[in-house]
Parts: sequence; structure tokens; C-alpha cells
Amino acid sequence: MFDEPGFPGAPDLEDAAITLQHFVYCSRAAEGVDDLAVGRIVAFSQRRNVARGITGVLVFSSGVFFQWIEGPPAEVKKLIASLHGDARHHDVVSLDMGIEERERLYPGWEMELVEADDIRAVLHDALDTAEDASNIAALERILQHLDSASLASFGGN
Ligand SMILES: Cc1cc2nc3c(=O)[nH]c(=O)nc-3n(C[C@H](O)[C@H](O)[C@H](O)COP(=O)(O)O)c2cc1C
Repeated sequence: MFDEPGFPGAPDLEDAAITLQHFVYCSRAAEGVDDLAVGRIVAFSQRRNVARGITGVLVFSSGVFFQWIEGPPAEVKKLIASLHGDARHHDVVSLDMGIEERERLYPGWEMELVEADDIRAVLHDALDTAEDASNIAALERILQHLDSASLASFGGN
């Protein structure tokens, strides 16, 4: 009769619909921020994000970051403030932000570094829908930077 657990367990991070805030942005890496430095950012972020219930994806390609972050609104807000003050990148362009009741998009990723085949396509899409003048200017700067970076390396990434 009492062989079932008497209390519901903690909501499962993997499949529970909870109130989540997401923040999507792109930015340009500061001078000297290379793959090694990005590796250190990812290692730190993974430890910190587990403790804060934050999950997401980070793309680093040709000196440009693209990141999707999701988690409890209070924690995501703190991270957004830290990101804006982080000198390891600049031209931070907010591409999307919102708060919704839903399941996580990346439940198992406390911050996964993924390869982008073509980060330009992602940024051109963002430019097509951007309305804010300073966002448009920053996106154009980032795309210009990508063009000059690929010219400098003869089309390599
Ligand atoms: C591109 C980029 C992505 C980052 N992603 C995260 C992240 O997912 N989680 C995190 O805690 N810090 C991340 N950081 C580091 C934060 O900007 C900040 O340094 C760190 O959260 C410590 O902030 P605090 O000193 O305000 O606590 C990232 C930094 C950069 C440059």
C-alpha cells in the first residue's frame, strides 16, 4: 500500500516544462581570444551553468561568437549582465530574448561548443530581421570582420 514514494520527486530537468528565459546573441571575440581561451571560457561556463541551471550552445567561428542560453530567468539575467561586461568579446548583438513556459531545447548541454559550417548564414538571417539601428550596425561590422578574416586566410575558417 505504501510502497510508492510518498512525495513526487524533483522536477526532471530533462523533460519538465518550466519557466525559462532564453537569450541569443552574437559578438566579436577580442584581440588575442583564440581556441585556447575559448576552451577556458567553455570549461568555466560548464561548471558555473550546472550550478545555475543554465543550458545552451556556444558557436565560435572566425573570431565570432554565437550563443544560445536558457535557464531560470533570474540566473539568465545575471549571466546577461556578466556577458555585457566581459572584455573577451565586444559588439554584443542581442538577437532574441524571451520568457516562456516550455521544455529546454538543450536539456543535456550545460554549454556545448559546436562547430558552425557557415556562421555568415546565421548572421545574414539576423540582419534581414534586425530593426534596431545599433544592432544592424554591429551585425554589419561583424560580417565585415568575417569577410576580412576569410580573405586573410584565403577562404579558410
Ligand atoms: C562568449 C562568452 C560566452 C560565455 N558564456 C558563459 C556561460 O555560458 N556561463 C557563464 O557562467 N559564463 C559565461 N561566460 C563568462 C561570463 O562572461 C563571466 O565572465 C562569468 O560568468 C563570470 O561572471 P561574474 O564575474 O560576473 O560572476 C562567457 C563569456 C564569453 C566571452
